Amino acid sequence: VSRVYLNGEFLAREDARLSIDDRGFLFGDGVYEVSRAVRGRLFEDDAHWDRLSRGLREIAISVADQLDAHRLREISLRLLDENDLTGTDATIYLQITRGAALRTHWFPPAQTAPTIFASARAFEIPRTLRETGASAITHPDVRWLRCDIKSVNLLPNVLAKQRAHEVGAFEAVLIRDGTVTEGASANLFGVVDGELRTHPLSNHILPGITRKVLFELAEELEIPIVERPIRAEELPRLQELFATGTTTDVQPLVALDGRPVGDGRPGPIGIKLRKALEIRMGTG
Ligand SMILES: Cc1ncc(COP(=O)(O)O)c(C=O)c1O
Repeated sequence: VSRVYLNGEFLAREDARLSIDDRGFLFGDGVYEVSRAVRGRLFEDDAHWDRLSRGLREIAISVADQLDAHRLREISLRLLDENDLTGTDATIYLQITRGAALRTHWFPPAQTAPTIFASARAFEIPRTLRETGASAITHPDVRWLRCDIKSVNLLPNVLAKQRAHEVGAFEAVLIRDGTVTEGASANLFGVVDGELRTHPLSNHILPGITRKVLFELAEELEIPIVERPIRAEELPRLQELFATGTTTDVQPLVALDGRPVGDGRPGPIGIKLRKALEIRMGTG
């Protein structure tokens, strides 16, 4: 049975109980993180903590009395241990909401404790998909204007991903105002006219931790990255396209809306970066 963390306690998943007044349930009033652990080692945990802290600050939830970087590290490692995940690949899920209180749109009383939940589970890398590439569809980006906050309000992402899923595609390439922003659950990189491009950090995309690591790896490999959005009309000229994320690694996208990307096979830049990421994570 899996063991989870909820508000200071470690307990069996089926014993974990949330209030029906929890604002995460009622409003999606919270943020989350998904991070990776490889054989008991946390990957980029400081970066995940920094993004989480920033998100909490942006939506004015304080966990000062409950959580800090050190405590989160302890919780994560204990979850790996209690779930027998120290020898394998795993993901850690963390969600923080504004807590449970009588339903009002405005913030609850100041003494309302945030809800803090964390769990861990085994992650199996879909190696074949990484190697052969996957397909994607384009989809309108109808999300709000603070996509830089990793909010649990994921309805537009869920609907876009479902559309992709229905046609056997791996990811939805989101398009806002004629430009590619990101995927429904990943950042996107593409090669156009020999230039590796990705959307710049802004309120329109999530600042992905994998995206950040890829910038570091690309610098080591002397692969220039241009932070300029890919325009919808450039999509037919894409030579490569790949999605990046904590559970996505570097996933080549070799077909878009039923047409091949480039020659329809994973391209050399994506392959190089995927391998570099595997070495950095220790999953290669
Ligand atoms: C919308 C969105 N963009 C990008 C990412 C990639 O972020 P990270 O590399 O931190 O997992 C995610 C990850 O889940 C996501 O949901």
